[in-house]
Amino acid sequence: MPEWLNNAIFYEIYPQSFLDTNGDGIGDFEGIIQKLDYINGLGCNALWLNPCFDSPFKDAGYDVRDYKKTAPRYGTNDDLKRLFSEAHKRKMRVLLDLVPGHTSEEHQWFIESSKACPKEYRDRYIWTDHCFKTTQGIGFIAGEAERAAAYIINFFKCQPALNYGWFKPAENWQLPMDHPGPAATREALKDIMRFWLDAGCDGFRVDMAMSLVKGDDGERSGTSMLWRDIRAMLDRDYPDAAIVSEWSYPKQAIAAGFHADFFLDFAPNSGGFKSLFRDYELTSDNVISGEDKSFFKKGAKHNIKKFVDEYIYHYEATKHYGYISLVTGNHDIVRMRGSLSTEEIALAYAFIFTMPGVPFLYYGDEIGMRYINVPTKEGGYYRTGSRTPMQWKAGANLGFSAAAADKLYLPVDRAADAPTVEAQEKDPASLLNTVKALIALRRAEKDLGALPNFSVIYAESGRMPFVYRRGSLLVAVNPSGECAKAAVPQTIAGSPLYAIGNCSAANGECSMDAQSFGVWRLAQ
Ligand code: NOJ
Repeated sequence: MPEWLNNAIFYEIYPQSFLDTNGDGIGDFEGIIQKLDYINGLGCNALWLNPCFDSPFKDAGYDVRDYKKTAPRYGTNDDLKRLFSEAHKRKMRVLLDLVPGHTSEEHQWFIESSKACPKEYRDRYIWTDHCFKTTQGIGFIAGEAERAAAYIINFFKCQPALNYGWFKPAENWQLPMDHPGPAATREALKDIMRFWLDAGCDGFRVDMAMSLVKGDDGERSGTSMLWRDIRAMLDRDYPDAAIVSEWSYPKQAIAAGFHADFFLDFAPNSGGFKSLFRDYELTSDNVISGEDKSFFKKGAKHNIKKFVDEYIYHYEATKHYGYISLVTGNHDIVRMRGSLSTEEIALAYAFIFTMPGVPFLYYGDEIGMRYINVPTKEGGYYRTGSRTPMQWKAGANLGFSAAAADKLYLPVDRAADAPTVEAQEKDPASLLNTVKALIALRRAEKDLGALPNFSVIYAESGRMPFVYRRGSLLVAVNPSGECAKAAVPQTIAGSPLYAIGNCSAANGECSMDAQSFGVWRLAQ
């Protein structure tokens, strides 16, 4: 485990929308460099940058055309290296986004592989042996290439799947993992990782990490073998590099060699993350329909068990080997502010920043940026509403860019009360200052860090509060509109170390006012 990950608090940046310093309407590396002190000032000491490589941007950069070249709209490779060194000067780390499962259909590998008689990269992608041959249940594209075969896609049509082989090949076009073609793909992936690690990055967030080996078993045994091999390379040659997976099944991902895995809502997880902040359905127009059952929604039917049962299952399986990452949001999910009030969000963040593992704060979530209904951009669809420009200050384009408003990558929030960093910095009660206080608390109290010292004290379906222990600390949160009490260890000493709203604990009971949160030290 890279030592620095034990104390890491990440800030995720969607580079398109962070800060534009050259007036072209889109964010850039220089903008990120200029805001490193701001991010550091929040208490975050690590960054995750969404893909910033050469791409036709049909999926916001998750369709890479050249893994070793930055997208010119953000800057050059040298600018990105400067970002690494400026971050390192501030003792901050930078994870790049590694997209190992697919490339853009414009990648040179794919262009060559699509030819009737490819000279190179014949097996870099997964081709069937006949132009009319596909298999049910897998996404194929037929009829596009000169090559008389169909190929598998990993996500959108523009993203042909790279070939890491099949776990148990059943057809002659399904190559085994140790076939020279898939083996060469794996070496190419290692080569890309080495390229950026040598350039100064500190590791990778790994896109769809569980999807590499096709025809895998339920345990993802083939894909796990592949990652363990990559982890061995890191342990040997780059022991300080971290890999964080988008796998959403920590039990498998950590065993496969990842240092941390996101706790999201992909199958086979069953909605424990969603149940906290986004337990509702969206219509096709992105409007919340029906009841909002989110745990952190004030008047909702609360059920913390959905989260707790799933989390504990993964936590117990991984606690000695790696971390679970909880996120405030990301570029794929509706911002909390789509449905929760600022007060509700403050309690949600208090929970996230007092849980074990490695937390991630999505840009703009620190000020409660809204989810905005905007037309799709770069394959974002409903996700686009969580990708609008960062709101720095009052005035033109809310400080994001000097370009004309109609030239911006996406429009800024036009609401009269659009939150900004500038306004919230001046307001001691703002969400921004609450985030800073929570992160400061996490950093000051060793027991609130990544450590596996978590246990549940009180978590009952339909009841409040939720109470948990972190080593020598007790944490309780009551997002409901009513007072709530729970039995806690007798040994609580004095008033809370930190609180939101009113709460107290004495004589073996904690008493939480509506919408409150508290952290207490347990007497020895
Ligand atoms: C997950 C990424 O987070 C998402 O934005 C992207 O569209 C897909 N993977 C495909 O790469």
